[in-house]
Amino acid sequence: MECREITEGSTTFTAPVQDETTQFPPGSAPVFYNTRMEFNRDMTVLLAKCIQPEDYLDSMAATGVRGLRISNEAGIPVTINDRDERAVRIIEENAKKLGGNITVTCDDANRLMCTSRFDAIDLDPFGTPIPFLDAASRAAKHYLFVTATDTAPLCGAHFKAGCRRYFATPKNTEYHAEVGLRIMMGAIARELVKYDRGMAPILSFAKSHYFRSHVRVLNKVTAAEETMAQIGFVMQCTKCLYRAEQKGSLLPKSHVCPICGAETEPIGPLWMGPLQEKGVLTEMQSLLPEMEFGTKKQMDKMLSFLLAEPETCTFYDYHFISRSMKVSPPKIEELIENLNKAGYYTTRTHFCVTGLKTTAPLPVIEEMIRLWNEKEFSDVVADVHLA
Ligand SMILES: C[S@@+](CC[C@H](N)C(=O)[O-])C[C@H]1O[C@@H](n2cnc3c(N)ncnc32)[C@H](O)[C@@H]1O
Ligand SMILES: [Zn+2]
Repeated sequence: MECREITEGSTTFTAPVQDETTQFPPGSAPVFYNTRMEFNRDMTVLLAKCIQPEDYLDSMAATGVRGLRISNEAGIPVTINDRDERAVRIIEENAKKLGGNITVTCDDANRLMCTSRFDAIDLDPFGTPIPFLDAASRAAKHYLFVTATDTAPLCGAHFKAGCRRYFATPKNTEYHAEVGLRIMMGAIARELVKYDRGMAPILSFAKSHYFRSHVRVLNKVTAAEETMAQIGFVMQCTKCLYRAEQKGSLLPKSHVCPICGAETEPIGPLWMGPLQEKGVLTEMQSLLPEMEFGTKKQMDKMLSFLLAEPETCTFYDYHFISRSMKVSPPKIEELIENLNKAGYYTTRTHFCVTGLKTTAPLPVIEEMIRLWNEKEFSDVVADVHLA
């Protein structure tokens, strides 16, 4: 296998040469390496450096880059596993060159997780993490890190696949990116509570073609109960942009939209609790300047977004709202500033460039947009009644 040396973060390793002329170069090599996941790996390395798990399993490692970097850049003992012998040969070579506390195994991830336990477990499969969540929920002592690249089922574009795989109803709305992440996290929560364990998310985000969540695993029945209580549904109006959040793991009865009178339909079950542990994110942001990361600027921007976003389960797309009102979209900065002045905490969101995370109800946002279009924006705050 023809290989080349690559440096990611401050770690140098070997990966197979890819055919750059193909549509998806990582798929052209016998062992997988995707440069588009560097940001994903950078974030996990920085997080691991902050939370310092006792040990870490890279359960589906391919070249081993993730585990190698956790060992080298975060100083954590790692086990690096793949079921493919060709991958394991590369991992062994890489581990030997790098040195450090690295164990390499060639096993099926589920079998390994049924026979050994690890402080932190990382699932980074092709597509969905679903086949690995049960074993990982038992084998992870304190942390579970999960990637899903099956965004089409999770976001409702491949509706039936999403329903089957996640036992949830997705929907292709303008806020589908958040729904996809929260359906994936709901699936993690359900696997953990089966074993009387709970979860507390530390760092979760959506990016281009994947979702990623890092959660603490809590070993208490009360934590499992609290986790169950964070499962719920978004009730989306079938005619207008109104939606409401409703907690509870049983399918809620449809209710009538208070704005237009149409029926609402449920999206979920999904995780409705917090997505981040803001204290850890603050620590990550202060550690970032001294680290060597290829995606440092993007990381800083993402952390700033995640730290600021309010804990609503959906977001609004102000272009979408403006289009539905048949008016021009206002300047986003002005809209945000005025919603905040009116007492509704509002930020941009990492989920979408035209997205708005806000505690304001839809009629207030619409009123702000209408007034902006009438060039009365300076009077907006006085005109909009606080909730
Ligand atoms: C998306 S790649 C992993 C990429 C890697 N974590 C990285 O950051 O570059 C998925 C890997 O999982 C391995 N794999 C798939 N199913 C597996 C299983 N059941 N047990 C162990 N490894 C598996 C594949 O051989 C492949 O190398
Ligand atoms: Zn409605």
